Amino acid sequence: MTNPLALVTGGSAGIGLELARLLARDGHDLIITGSSDRVKGAAEELRQIGVDVTPVQSDLATEDGTNTVIDAVKNSGRPLDIAVFSAGIAIGGAFVDIPLERHLQLIALNIISPVRMAHVFLPAMAANGGGKLLLVSSLSATTPTPYESVYGPSKAFLTSFGHSIREELVGTGVQITILHPGATATDFHARAGMGSTGFGDNSWKNDPAQVARQGYDALMAGTTSLIGGDEATQEAGREHKRMSEEEKARRHAKMARPT
Ligand SMILES: NC(=O)c1ccc[n+]([C@@H]2O[C@H](COP(=O)([O-])OP(=O)(O)OC[C@H]3O[C@@H](n4cnc5c(N)ncnc54)[C@H](OP(=O)(O)O)[C@@H]3O)[C@@H](O)[C@H]2O)c1
Repeated sequence: MTNPLALVTGGSAGIGLELARLLARDGHDLIITGSSDRVKGAAEELRQIGVDVTPVQSDLATEDGTNTVIDAVKNSGRPLDIAVFSAGIAIGGAFVDIPLERHLQLIALNIISPVRMAHVFLPAMAANGGGKLLLVSSLSATTPTPYESVYGPSKAFLTSFGHSIREELVGTGVQITILHPGATATDFHARAGMGSTGFGDNSWKNDPAQVARQGYDALMAGTTSLIGGDEATQEAGREHKRMSEEEKARRHAKMARPT
């Protein structure tokens, strides 16, 4: 008996690494990806759990980098049972202060790369009789995100895309789950250059292991969509349904504006 195979983009760190740990503990062989060579260290750690792990280092903001990951799955010669798309970035600061090229890189990583991969992996999963895809979106998909002005919209795209393809895939055995983490204590905001904002301090944020556990359980249960995080995060999700876009934008700006 061979283990089922799972792909985790962004599996080298943060929420993706926590998801990879859960998959490994449940006996999945893994292909994990990251843009830096720390993906190799993460693979080494995950192998200690007793599964096969293939690290892939590539820039998913590029077509070549995305094809490298697609090829790694194809070259495994095995059906892909689970795909987790967790790689993603935000960019802090006012929209016009950030070079256009960086906004376009975010769109390439957060939107274009998942669409490219889904277009290859979903038909293959359906042909194999089924599979599971976990899209790591964000609570930011449900609010305007001033001072990370392209990030929230990129996640709103991912959420709507997930709901759209989920409906098309009903009856194929392919399940889509969309995880919306609230602020989570990883390198994410520091990397976005948001250290001097209300998101800079990791002490109040959600534990990435808890967020990953919620997403993993939902994926295994076949849940369509969930918010990841503690009770305050769940309440924020409920509030987002009641508040106007202007109110939400004001609230987000207070947290995300650089000081
Ligand atoms: N943390 C939060 O507050 C939060 C909240 C809501 C949603 N999310 C979402 O959760 C997902 C994971 O975030 P996280 O908090 O785990 O962040 P993280 O700790 O910064 O991890 C990001 C992962 O994505 C990879 N990555 C970044 N840029 C890449 C690129 N250009 N090409 C390929 N891989 C790249 C990183 O690899 P390297 O380190 O090797 O570059 C790393 O594995 C993201 O999609 C994010 O939008 C996060």
